[in-house]
Amino acid sequence: IVLISFLSAGHSQNYDESKVPAYTLPDVLKTIDNKPVCARGAWEKERRPEIVRLFEDNIYGQMPTTFDGINFSKTADDQPTMNGKATLKQVLIEVFKDGKTVQINVTLFVPTHATKPAPVFLLINNRGKDNTDPTREKKSEFWPAEMVIDSGYAIAAFHVSDLAPDDKEAYVKGVLQLYPEQLKADNGMKAIGAWAWGASRVLDYFEKDPDIDSKKVIVVGHSRGGKASLWAAAEDRRFAACVTNCSGNSGAALARRQFGERISRINATFPHWFNTNYKKFNDNEAALPVDQHMLIALVAPRPIYATNASKDLWADPKGTFLALKNAEKVYALYDVKSRLPKTPPGINEPVYKSKMAYHNREGEHNMTSYDWGNFINFANYNFGGRK
Ligand code: GCU
Repeated sequence: IVLISFLSAGHSQNYDESKVPAYTLPDVLKTIDNKPVCARGAWEKERRPEIVRLFEDNIYGQMPTTFDGINFSKTADDQPTMNGKATLKQVLIEVFKDGKTVQINVTLFVPTHATKPAPVFLLINNRGKDNTDPTREKKSEFWPAEMVIDSGYAIAAFHVSDLAPDDKEAYVKGVLQLYPEQLKADNGMKAIGAWAWGASRVLDYFEKDPDIDSKKVIVVGHSRGGKASLWAAAEDRRFAACVTNCSGNSGAALARRQFGERISRINATFPHWFNTNYKKFNDNEAALPVDQHMLIALVAPRPIYATNASKDLWADPKGTFLALKNAEKVYALYDVKSRLPKTPPGINEPVYKSKMAYHNREGEHNMTSYDWGNFINFANYNFGGRK
């Protein structure tokens, strides 16, 4: 009985809207010393950098950006594929620091018939490598390359294991070998930070590839990968847009709602994702100086699409919608009017004709061709159609 009550006290999840506690979100437009922020200038100079630091210090860790060198090469000759509709490029990115090297393998398809340079969707792949098969023998809704190419966009992917294996011991083998001091710091980078860092190195490559419009890179991630895509877009303002799909707790969903997954649970199951300081907020969401609406605000004024699945209550679809809503006032500083409704739209009623976009797909925790079809609609709306 003691054990059962322990388990239910520490690890029970709430899925009942009426049991969401009363909470007050930190004001995204008020500095730590309570100064109101009313204009773009103060946001950019003062509050935005302050919020970046708060997320680094309390959740995702630092984002080191110095290294000794970076090299781009091809592991195979470029190849026509998809019946001539695309060119396959297999790129190897090597980053060097203090005698250590990180290698990132990128699979990239560029559309043959669309005008170049092409905007690109970049997936941070947290699932099996088969999902991004360069030979296209295996196809997956998780990364429907043919559909994206047919819409006139390039599509790329790298796997998280190149940066930090998704394992509580092995995660140190990758980016963290370049930055060993991070492992000693309470606000040091961990796996999610390393994956986001990898997305930025792929962007470094895009800046050198004349086929790609590096000013139109949409970083995409699902679930743990969606936490990383959001963090990447927050840290690196070169990303033109962000898609964060079913990213839930410590992604796009508000922590203070304590709905579905909670901080205590994510830290217990995945101690290697977030920094050491984050553990202080186990069962104490109210003490956090941030909540996830502020992470979305860091993407402003760039387009952001936060998406969910109706049966994926673990990732709190409503908490994701509310995080977007609470970031609207930062977009408003840039005169971006949100087109989100006041309350969450119905299932399969995507709101993509907006810089702040949202949908709740019918179904399970996943990323599907329904989702991708709408990511393309969202990109067409925000970047001008490709067809
Ligand atoms: C677990 C985890 C989530 C995560 C998900 C995923 O369910 O608790 O936080 O988003 O895995 O990556 O699929």
